Amino acid sequence: MNSEKTIELLKQHNLLKIIDDELDIYLEVPHIAYIEVKTADSKAILFTNVVDKKNNKKFDEPVLMNVFCNAKAVELLIGDADKIAKEIEGLLKMKPPSGFMDKLSMFGQLFNLKSVFPKRTNSKGECQEVIKTGNQAKLSELPVLTTWEQDGGPFITMGQVYTTSLDGTMHNVGMYRLQVFDDQTLGMHWQIHKDSNHFFHEYKKAGKKMPVSIGIGGDPMYIWCGQAPLPIGVFELMLYGFVKKENAKLVKSITNDIYVPHDVDYVIEGFVDVDNLRIEGPFGDHTGYYTLEEDYPFMEVTAITHKKEPVFAATVVGKPPLEDKYMGYATERIFLPLLQTTAPDLIDYYMPENGVFHNLILGKIKTAYPGHAQQIMHAFWGVGQMSFVKHALFVSQDAPELHSDEVIPYILNRFDTENILITKGVVDALDHSSPKFAVGGKLGIDCTGDEIDSCEVDILDDIVLLEKMKNISNDIKDLKQYHKDTKSPIVVISVDKKRSQKELIDELKPLNKHIKILAIVDEKNNHLNNPYMLLWRVVNNIDSNRDIYIDGKTVAIDATNKNSYDNFQRRWPDDVTCTKSVLDDLKNRGILDIKDEFIEKWGLI
Ligand SMILES: Cc1cc2nc3c(=O)[nH]c(=O)nc-3n(C[C@H](O)[C@H](O)[C@H](O)COP(=O)(O)O)c2cc1C
Repeated sequence: MNSEKTIELLKQHNLLKIIDDELDIYLEVPHIAYIEVKTADSKAILFTNVVDKKNNKKFDEPVLMNVFCNAKAVELLIGDADKIAKEIEGLLKMKPPSGFMDKLSMFGQLFNLKSVFPKRTNSKGECQEVIKTGNQAKLSELPVLTTWEQDGGPFITMGQVYTTSLDGTMHNVGMYRLQVFDDQTLGMHWQIHKDSNHFFHEYKKAGKKMPVSIGIGGDPMYIWCGQAPLPIGVFELMLYGFVKKENAKLVKSITNDIYVPHDVDYVIEGFVDVDNLRIEGPFGDHTGYYTLEEDYPFMEVTAITHKKEPVFAATVVGKPPLEDKYMGYATERIFLPLLQTTAPDLIDYYMPENGVFHNLILGKIKTAYPGHAQQIMHAFWGVGQMSFVKHALFVSQDAPELHSDEVIPYILNRFDTENILITKGVVDALDHSSPKFAVGGKLGIDCTGDEIDSCEVDILDDIVLLEKMKNISNDIKDLKQYHKDTKSPIVVISVDKKRSQKELIDELKPLNKHIKILAIVDEKNNHLNNPYMLLWRVVNNIDSNRDIYIDGKTVAIDATNKNSYDNFQRRWPDDVTCTKSVLDDLKNRGILDIKDEFIEKWGLI
């Protein structure tokens, strides 16, 4: 399915907005897409009149954003995730057939696998209708967006990065952001743990330039495959064939030997210099924080090819919820049977989007023995990209559905500080709170046991508890309690931070009989009435080795921004926010219609 068919399909299902107003690639287009995807019935957007105001340039091609705008769009473009998961489960559990019908069904399953392997063709692809090489290939001819004010420049945000191992036996497609430095130089943000980075080191060791081709557009399934966390050596386009029951068709790039899908809209070809790195970033990322400048490899562009009438695909990342919420749901479902091969007693799992995926996972298990939950936590922390998960919370088979609100009281009624496991390991390269890059605290909470006996907390009214706290320290500005009807109510306080919160937590100890779980956030940029964004903040901002304080049955969590008071040596990044003047201007021009409550709810500015 190419871009035209995708657009048609989205239109047919009333999932597409077309915006013909003139809009700038600098902030305007991405701000509109960012806001749209947070609305209740969000749609994909086709921007047909895109300009680069700074360089006084108008683009012929439209920009397509938010294709994975909601669950319906994902089902349309990828398929029924539960059904796909069942098929994978069927294959993984395949046993020798016992009867004739069994044999038939197994034959069917294996026959389907024929479509898994991508097919190479010798002819040119749709993506090569227009070919520009050498100095004719100019990245500035593409409508590459600058999403956020503090971004280091324009970034390609929906690039399918195709690479191969040095010996050519392994192929990979990864979705990584790509910073445009100039017409022929493109940053490759493959993080330290990712497959293309492993390939890069093979080329570097051999002293050879690394060929890379980047596809943009075509079947949205390609980009979904690019973000799928498959192990190294498994080409993600096999997932395309498995799901679509049709081989991905590939053509050779013009100036290197990398094969790319024939029907993408653009291909950027080139070679990565293995001897030099360049400062990449900052970039407002899907954690809702900026990732700060770091050294990354870059590609020297040798060709840009495209369809005669291409569509430029882009996405926007920032604070949740965004497209990755919907893409992530399909990934979560489809990977369940694969995870079960490592943890057979795992019934289900859920990575809430406001935990930005790697910051929080809920797991439901068939608990069979003491320490079972901890065993599975360790398994998770040792397997592929699951090892990035910072906080894991496990419940037993009798727990409510993990995506439901009912699971919260179930957890809080079983929460006991004795069942907290704190350890250390690999964390996502984007994690800003760990004291060191890519390694930090891991927190596991085992709530698989019985409900705790009684509520030992002497619960006070918010006003009374706040007053008592303020009598101890005037750093404390506000307080709100959540889930007071459970055995582990949560007290959230906001502070004007002037010192290490360890001191404050020690001072508050006399009030511990009124507190089971205490979470501390900064007064600035946090609203205590917004639990969705509070959870986002807390799991983002903590490193469990530094920020969890257990005192008997009470646990305090310091979720404030870290700085020299905490002996934090790295730079703490800013939150990702929209530019107010851009929002105001879009409102004045009648292109955007948002209320102040919406702005506050999603922490837009
Ligand atoms: C919107 C979006 C943007 C992403 N950007 C990056 C990125 O810039 N760098 C990166 O290493 N991973 C990024 N990822 C995650 C990777 O796509 C994901 O980890 C993928 O499985 C990597 O594939 P690989 O293991 O084949 O390298 C992004 C994911 C999404 C959904």
